[in-house]
Amino acid sequence: MTRLLVLNGPNLNLLGKREPGIYGKGSLKDAVELVKTAAEEHGAEAESYQSNHEGDLVDAIQQAEGKYDGIIFNPAAYTHTSIALRDAISAIDIPVIEVHISNVHQRESFRHHSMLASVCKGQVVGLGLSGYRLAALALLESFEGRR
Ligand code: DQA
Repeated sequence: MTRLLVLNGPNLNLLGKREPGIYGKGSLKDAVELVKTAAEEHGAEAESYQSNHEGDLVDAIQQAEGKYDGIIFNPAAYTHTSIALRDAISAIDIPVIEVHISNVHQRESFRHHSMLASVCKGQVVGLGLSGYRLAALALLESFEGRR
C-alpha cells in the first residue's frame, strides 16, 4: 500500500492559535486529516510527525526511505536556513513536496528563499491548509502514473 508521511517543522504544533491572521484557525490535526482523507480516497495511507528540532527532522527524513513512498513537508522556519534538511532530502530517493500555508513571497524578504525547494519535487505555497491536500494529491496521482 502507498504510504505518505506528513512532516512538520517548528511551531506548527501551534497551528490554530499561532498568528491566525497569517496561518488561519485550522489545527495541525486538521491539516493531517486532509492528507489522511485524500490518501484513503486513493487506497493509500498517511502518518504524521512534527518536531521543533532540526536533527529530529533530519532523522525522520532519513528513516522515511523504505517506509514511505513520499513526504509532504512543511519545514517552517528551517526552510530558510537548513542545509542539513536539504542534504537529508538529497540523500533519499523518495519524492518530497514542500508546503507553506502562508504565501511566503508576500512576507518578509528572509522568507523568500528556500534552501530546500531545488531538491524537492515541487512546492505548494500560500493556499492555506489546502496545500497539504494538494501536495498529497500530486504525489498520489504521480504514483498512479496519472500526472
Ligand atoms: C511557513 C512559513 C515559514 O516562513 C514560517 O517560518 C513558518 C510557517 C508556512 O507554512 O507558511 O513557520 O512554513
